[in-house]
Amino acid sequence: MQFRVAILGCGTVGGGVARILLEQREALGERAGREVVLARIVDLMPDASAKRHSIPRKFYAGDGAELTPAQADAEIKKVLQDPNIDLVVETIGGSGPEILAVARGVLEAGKHLVTANKALLAKHSADLLTAARKNGKGVGFEAAVSAAIPIIKGLNECLTGDEIQSISGIMNGTSNYILSKMTAEGEGFADALRDAQAKGYAEADPTLDINGGDAGHKLTLVLRLAFGLELAFEDLPRQGIDTVTAGDVAFAHEMQGVIKLICHAQRVGDAVHAAVCPMIVKHTNLLSKIDGATNAIRVMGRYAGEIVLIGQGAGSLETGSAIVSDIVFLARHGEHALPKVATTDFDLRPLGELELPYNIVFETADMPGMTGIVTTAIGRQRINIDTVSHNRHQVDHAEFAIATMSCTRAQVEWAVRDIQANHPGALLGEPRILPILV
Ligand code: HSE
Repeated sequence: MQFRVAILGCGTVGGGVARILLEQREALGERAGREVVLARIVDLMPDASAKRHSIPRKFYAGDGAELTPAQADAEIKKVLQDPNIDLVVETIGGSGPEILAVARGVLEAGKHLVTANKALLAKHSADLLTAARKNGKGVGFEAAVSAAIPIIKGLNECLTGDEIQSISGIMNGTSNYILSKMTAEGEGFADALRDAQAKGYAEADPTLDINGGDAGHKLTLVLRLAFGLELAFEDLPRQGIDTVTAGDVAFAHEMQGVIKLICHAQRVGDAVHAAVCPMIVKHTNLLSKIDGATNAIRVMGRYAGEIVLIGQGAGSLETGSAIVSDIVFLARHGEHALPKVATTDFDLRPLGELELPYNIVFETADMPGMTGIVTTAIGRQRINIDTVSHNRHQVDHAEFAIATMSCTRAQVEWAVRDIQANHPGALLGEPRILPILV
């Protein structure tokens, strides 16, 4: 019996899926145990899509003609009502009510759903998984976290016998590209962003890539699978890379590290400490070597030990490959492919409560005694100092960094407030505080 697939939205990602389904039809059929057939594509602009991905026009709804949004909606309805379609790939994007209604509609129509839509899943996966269970169907989302990297099935299948201790990863290629550029060429953030846009890594509106939103969507999904944590996306602490300066990058280099946007989650007793934020990753940590738009995820299992997955977190065929793996998986296992995660009572706690080493960059008035004022306040918080960087004397101020031994972020913030209260005018602006990943 055939396993028939429809694709809604055939841009970069949907096009990659269609191409792989057509190129690999025979092999996929053998792996799935039944013929996997591309049955229908709904896209507003079939002409551009067909040319870009070399897809015959016969697959497109509307016989290859451009569709108005209303016509596209009608074609989507036809797909949902077609009893001969078994699985729908949603590659339209967005996380608003219309797209949620389409995704839910797929499951309610008795079809499996596969999507790369991390924004939708981060906000609505409980809703969608409930609809899937109710209708005896599956939801595949391997492509939603770092595209080609098999972290979803890795956690859900391969590591389901383990107890995950921590996960740290570079899960946003655009921000990693920007930070790599800043590191390699000493560029400022704005220049590196412009370069990422010119090379096509960053979107015209790169907000979610640089403010930690996209990485946060991915970490939300990973936290659910790794720790059974039912968290709301809004509750995950997030900080982007737009405040990272060329000076911070230089201080990181001085202490044998590089700045990366890190998704970090660590289990401590009954709590999971998690956040997305820029961190200084020491050269001894493999994540420091991951440059450009590449993604990498490091998982520590209680029994398996350290596992590192490295690969492409975006791209047409890279994301398509992950989506097609879900299609084959669902053709083989049906609703049994749904993630089976035991919900836990873990508490989601901020990363700042964990004891970590920190790097603090101070801009101060350039006067005798400034380093003493700062280090005395840090000592008063019982924070042990690891290194003090060379002072950089600017025209009208000084800049230096202090790396601490492990302490909480609250201790660091108290030290800063102590200086501000007792030495008004000593600090020029808020010090820049980055955790260090060893
Ligand atoms: N824009 C993302 C990135 C890929 O730069 O990694 C899709 O989540």
